[in-house]
Amino acid sequence: MQLRSIAILALLALVQAQAYRLTEDRSLIAEIGNATNQHITAKPCSSNATEFKSCYLTSTNAKDYPWGSPEITYSAAGDPWGVHLTGPYPDGRTYLVSWFTGGPTIKRNPTQPNTSALVTYASVQAIPSAAVPSGENLTFTGKIITYLRLYSDTALLNYSYLSPFIHHVVLANLTPSTTYKYQVSARNGNLAGNYSFTTLPLPADGAPSPYPLRIGIMGDVGQTRNSSVTRDHMLSNNPQVVIHVGDNSYADNYHASNPDLYKSGGTNQQRWDSFSVLWEPLFSKAPVLNIPGNHEVESVGIKSSISLTTTSWSFPTNFPFQSYAARFPVPGSTAATFGNITANMYHSTVLGGVATLISFNNYIAFHPGSPQYKWAIQEFQKVDRTKTPWLFVQYHTSSYHTYTNHYKSMECFMSIWEDIFYRYGVDLVFNGHVHAYERTHPVYKYRQDNCAPIYVTVGDGGNIEGLYRNFVDDISSTTKATYCEGFTASGQSPATLYYTNPGGWSSAGPRPANCSTVSFQPASGVAGGAPVMCLNNTNPLLGFCQSSQPNWSALRDPSFGHAILDLLSNTTARFRWFKNLVGTKVAVDDVVLERQASCQNRRHRSRHLSSSS
Ligand SMILES: *[C@@H]1O[C@H](CO)[C@@H](O)[C@H](O)[C@H]1NC(C)=O
Ligand SMILES: *[C@@H]1O[C@H](CO)[C@@H](O)[C@H](O)[C@H]1NC(C)=O
Ligand SMILES: *[C@@H]1O[C@H](CO)[C@@H](O)[C@H](O)[C@H]1NC(C)=O
Ligand SMILES: *[C@@H]1O[C@H](CO)[C@@H](O)[C@H](O)[C@H]1NC(C)=O
Ligand SMILES: *[C@@H]1O[C@H](CO)[C@@H](O)[C@H](O)[C@H]1NC(C)=O
Ligand SMILES: *[C@@H]1O[C@H](CO)[C@@H](O)[C@H](O)[C@H]1NC(C)=O
Ligand SMILES: *[C@@H]1O[C@H](CO)[C@@H](O)[C@H](O)[C@H]1NC(C)=O
Ligand SMILES: *[C@@H]1O[C@H](CO)[C@@H](O)[C@H](O)[C@H]1NC(C)=O
Ligand SMILES: *[C@@H]1O[C@H](CO)[C@@H](O)[C@H](O)[C@H]1NC(C)=O
Ligand SMILES: *[C@@H]1O[C@H](CO)[C@@H](O)[C@H](O)[C@H]1NC(C)=O
Ligand SMILES: *[C@@H]1O[C@H](CO)[C@@H](O)[C@H](O)[C@H]1NC(C)=O
Ligand SMILES: *[C@@H]1O[C@H](CO)[C@@H](O)[C@H](O)[C@H]1NC(C)=O
Ligand SMILES: [Fe+2]
Repeated sequence: MQLRSIAILALLALVQAQAYRLTEDRSLIAEIGNATNQHITAKPCSSNATEFKSCYLTSTNAKDYPWGSPEITYSAAGDPWGVHLTGPYPDGRTYLVSWFTGGPTIKRNPTQPNTSALVTYASVQAIPSAAVPSGENLTFTGKIITYLRLYSDTALLNYSYLSPFIHHVVLANLTPSTTYKYQVSARNGNLAGNYSFTTLPLPADGAPSPYPLRIGIMGDVGQTRNSSVTRDHMLSNNPQVVIHVGDNSYADNYHASNPDLYKSGGTNQQRWDSFSVLWEPLFSKAPVLNIPGNHEVESVGIKSSISLTTTSWSFPTNFPFQSYAARFPVPGSTAATFGNITANMYHSTVLGGVATLISFNNYIAFHPGSPQYKWAIQEFQKVDRTKTPWLFVQYHTSSYHTYTNHYKSMECFMSIWEDIFYRYGVDLVFNGHVHAYERTHPVYKYRQDNCAPIYVTVGDGGNIEGLYRNFVDDISSTTKATYCEGFTASGQSPATLYYTNPGGWSSAGPRPANCSTVSFQPASGVAGGAPVMCLNNTNPLLGFCQSSQPNWSALRDPSFGHAILDLLSNTTARFRWFKNLVGTKVAVDDVVLERQASCQNRRHRSRHLSSSS
């Protein structure tokens, strides 16, 4: 065991020495080597292409598995299905295992069963190792919940979906860095299944280094054949934990009456069930840190409403986020909070004892004064960078990307949060929503800044809505101008929206508060090409568009894939993006990152912000 620690230390020293050598002549960088100046846009593939590393397909065939396909089918007889892990909890030792038994009931006025007296079990057995020589064998009990959603569609008047039994069992205080076999209870109470997962490390005096620590990142995954390629590629990269930046099942694209009828007016809950079947191979093997996206809101076709300015909620049955909250409790959940929507909207936890992840829901209020704002400020203040050197943030909607769809829809959010991310020295921000891949250089207010976060958009998990192909700076064949210049939201140009609604720009995303800006983008432009002004040309105080890929954009490729982040030490990481068309042998984006002590905001415990809550 001692030899092993020495070997790990030697390896670590090597990695650090190498990183040091590469950077010795630089004072302040976050990317090492050639990646610092990377500025890449994938090209459309030719029809006879055989090599896909730097090109993207111009047409795609992202179709959900048809209802009844074996990949998404479960037995309603009582065996567990859709097993998924959530975690780690903030203590670094606790995980949640969730699963389903039985099937849903869809009829008029179904009676929600009283499950409060029912107990469910999970048993875990440690594979004996250095950490647990005796192989601990533990049984945990938990809770069963169901939820009921009343459909509002006229064809289904008074029909409801009553969920299968949803089982949640907290696996408390497991041993770090230990592989556990586990079983979960069937409807009849017997333990069933043959699952296993490995707990993340948790450094303590004498414990081996938590590095390297492998984190998978993906978003907008859905349930198509492309989704299962993403799933299998992620599995073969063997992440210790997976960050999912939201938009899970896309159930809300299905009509309530038919899980194969792809049209609005529904939010067909059965597609949540099939989603869990498709993703079980990954979700039962690696704990997942999920966050709600717009497809988790589900306020169409059911009796519900949501106001983004609401700051105190009471969520009755049929409130938004109900399905998501019932199925994916946040890390930290207890039996008291399973199924409570308010308690499962955002979360914070620590990965491997060294990386804090703060996860926002950008579809509920986030402005000063809101519960989420107060909570997040406290989470940032709690971070001690001398103990947990890495700091990551995730939320669904992408802040920095150059695709036409959802362009600049987070300017309001950023008018509140970008300065806070900067001052607390966030290393990486993970987003989805944009169905494509893009990584930025460290960027602050549209300027490259080596003390700012790198933003990663990975909404490319494979969902049925397909990929977004147009860059804002591409010339549209119909208008002969950039897509950005023709940009409208709800039929209005950014300029019109700005002057009619000075409270702030929002192309589609939430704008729960008056925002201080339309865009932080400087009027002088941020790329080599000439800036293109969408806003008021007589008084162009702000930039909005540019005629080429801006220089803060490092690599963009509208293809399906997933990302892997390897934390190698307290200061060094390797980030890679794997494209489904290419496979897992070669990463299409591959960059080494180094946190520099010369960035004040990344050095020590962050100074407290002057409280504006
Ligand atoms: C960096 O770029 C140079 C010039 O394009 C190339 O010769 C070299 O191989 C690259 N180095 C790495 C590590 O990719
Ligand atoms: C593909 O077709 C183009 C012209 O259609 C040709 O120039 C090119 O060489 C072909 N590439 C391959 C790999 O066959
Ligand atoms: C559900 O069952 C529990 C335990 O049997 C009981 O205490 C409770 O009153 C029941 N709730 C309802 C709503 O019937
Ligand atoms: C562990 O617990 C399970 C379930 O109670 C039991 O079947 C198994 O035999 C136990 N294994 C050991 C090694 O004690
Ligand atoms: C639907 O439910 C409402 C409220 O319970 C009731 O008034 C109405 O008659 C029902 N309609 C049908 C068609 O069942
Ligand atoms: C359980 O899974 C492991 C690994 O996949 C396999 O080796 C083993 O045979 C399985 N055991 C049973 C009882 O199915
Ligand atoms: C999506 O999957 C389909 C079916 O396997 C495949 O033909 C298509 O090329 C994939 N699309 C992309 C963009 O990878
Ligand atoms: C649900 O959670 C919220 C937030 O934690 C809490 O204020 C509320 O009392 C909980 N509701 C119930 C019914 O437990
Ligand atoms: C990383 O930081 C932790 C906490 O400060 C410290 O105990 C550990 O020695 C550091 N590791 C390295 C390789 O610097
Ligand atoms: C936004 O500003 C307008 C005009 O000052 C004010 O009427 C409105 O209440 C504000 N809205 C919010 C959410 O603060
Ligand atoms: C990026 O472009 C802007 C505007 O052209 C320029 O001022 C800035 O120096 C560029 N940054 C880098 C790192 O090249
Ligand atoms: C441009 O901005 C000026 C001052 O901000 C304003 O007076 C003028 O009406 C605006 N023009 C248009 C076309 O919006
Ligand atoms: Fe989305």
